[in-house]
Amino acid sequence: MDKLVITGGTRLVGEVTISGAKNAAIAILPATLLINGVCTLENVPNISDVKIYCEILQTLGAKITWLSENELTVDTRDINCMQAPLDMTSKFRASYYLLGALLGRCKEAVVGIPGGCNLGARPIDQHIKAFEALGATVDVSQGKITAKCEKLKANSIYMDIVSVGATINAILASVLAEGTTIIDNAAKEPHIVDVANFLNTMGADIRGAGTDVIKVNGVESLHGNTTYSVVPDQIEAGTFMLAAVASKGDLIIRNCITKHLESITAKIIEIGGNVDANGDKLRVWCDQRPSKANIKTLPYPGFPTDLQPQMGVVLSIANGTSIINESIWESRFQYTGELNKMGAKITPNGKTAVFEGVEKLTGAPIYATDLRAGAALIIAGIIAEGTTEVYNLEHIDRGYENIEEKFRKIGANIQRIKEN
Ligand code: EPZ
Repeated sequence: MDKLVITGGTRLVGEVTISGAKNAAIAILPATLLINGVCTLENVPNISDVKIYCEILQTLGAKITWLSENELTVDTRDINCMQAPLDMTSKFRASYYLLGALLGRCKEAVVGIPGGCNLGARPIDQHIKAFEALGATVDVSQGKITAKCEKLKANSIYMDIVSVGATINAILASVLAEGTTIIDNAAKEPHIVDVANFLNTMGADIRGAGTDVIKVNGVESLHGNTTYSVVPDQIEAGTFMLAAVASKGDLIIRNCITKHLESITAKIIEIGGNVDANGDKLRVWCDQRPSKANIKTLPYPGFPTDLQPQMGVVLSIANGTSIINESIWESRFQYTGELNKMGAKITPNGKTAVFEGVEKLTGAPIYATDLRAGAALIIAGIIAEGTTEVYNLEHIDRGYENIEEKFRKIGANIQRIKEN
């Protein structure tokens, strides 16, 4: 089992460059199925979720060519199958995008029931509702989801809850449908705008992405021969912002869209840190022990659930008692048990956790319970006194490109040890 060994007590200083967004890339890759041609994607994060998606697309007949570390072409001219391998698709959550994309392209899709991080119940009723509204029948049985239709016909879809995945799936399924689809109570995350921008670049007609009403005017076909650059990762940028605060460090964070980071910036300033936005870079620094704060996670533009564990590390060493209310994922406090092994005083209770700030954390062997928990525990190891060993790295590798190298460059003493 590989592990990261971190010798803590480091103040992070220097520059870090943010990669392309995981949650945009793993929606854009299946979106290429709606094109009958070749497209080039730039700023693609080199992470395991992207590699799995590429493998899945290849099993459907797509040709993927990596041009460099972060650039690839997808040729979807020979797609010959609408059933993605069940063992591969059930490995991770974002395989649900194959449903919308294959329905759009082939009028039929079969996908294993999506897996992914264990964050609690992860229903897909809103995805199914959208497909059915567009004329598909959907069957969930024997560990798989089958969606079929004669043809897709536009409709009005009102989302009962704000869902990133269901919003993107509704867009994917309606791009080639006949007529104008209205998606109401849509999610507004930056990666939704990015998927819409990608599809529009390929000839789609999607308006209003980034607001809560999205209008998709169905088109006959999408074209290839286009290059698209994936948006910078808002969550990776936020992770380094919070690492700067937790370590009382001073970081320049390059290749980010500062507008996407406003809720995090506001909280950092509230707890005594400093943020200076300048073009596509941010300087984040903190000269004092952060002070307590209360956080409630919300859909964008609220404070993102995907930065809740990283903020939890900051609040675990803050001056005073803080409360985090997690309103998206019921099991997103699993990391608090690991932080408590390092001397934190956190009491989770359902969707709320109370963080009684301690002066310092101390190193311990700890286990990444999911992707963002893993990033948070690395930050904890960097600021803790002594040595921390982080296990379950497969969670972290799903979503962070070269994470230990990036932390090493800004001063962390962190090594990956490969073990059988
Ligand atoms: C996306 O998950 C992200 N994953 C998650 O990223 C992120 O935490 C989440 O959005 C919220 O921002 C990807 O983009 C691949 P949702 P998604 O549908 O789309 C409920 C990370 O660490 N819901 O917006 O699956 C659901 O239970 C992660 O990168 C329904 O009830 O999230 C949750 O409470 C993990 N019915 C809420 O909505 C549905 O049909 C929001 O979920 C769909 C969702």
